[in-house]
Amino acid sequence: MNIATNGPAAEHENRETPWAERSPSEIIEFILRHFHEPLRRDLPTLLASARAVEAETREAPLCPAGLADHLEQVLLAVESHLAKEEKILFPLILAGRGRAAFMPIKVMMAEHEDHLANLRRTRALTNGFGLPSDATDSWRTLYLDLQRLEADLNQHIELENNILFTRVMGSSSDNL
Ligand SMILES: [Fe+2]
Ligand SMILES: [Fe+2]
Repeated sequence: MNIATNGPAAEHENRETPWAERSPSEIIEFILRHFHEPLRRDLPTLLASARAVEAETREAPLCPAGLADHLEQVLLAVESHLAKEEKILFPLILAGRGRAAFMPIKVMMAEHEDHLANLRRTRALTNGFGLPSDATDSWRTLYLDLQRLEADLNQHIELENNILFTRVMGSSSDNL
């Protein structure tokens, strides 16, 4: 399984309009299309791949024991987080209700710290994505996909924390 990222990294680098000049609705639209949709699409497949790889590498010294159970928790946490952003926080921001968004933003930022801790746990469980020389293709593909997930989640969180949320928190009025 190859996760199709639609190249958010390239868009970050090549975008014509700086984030600071984009409206909150444009930033939210980008987040939904380039981060939320791929996460929902790819995480269940990633979990299934991890289960299969863990089963077939049970005897191997570098077997990622516990990875699938961990990713199952990640999937639940991410689904819950995306739903809160889409149902509560983003509508407040789009309605220009910046002050009402302060508390949901604090909650989302705390959850981002949990997601980052989960990424560190993924690295620990995979021995830093370490593979034996005779690793199967499915094992190699899984680790490549997990590294893409890590890169995308880092960019996703950075865009929300440092651009979108900072913009809303820095607004002194309810009219963004
Ligand atoms: Fe998000
Ligand atoms: Fe988020």
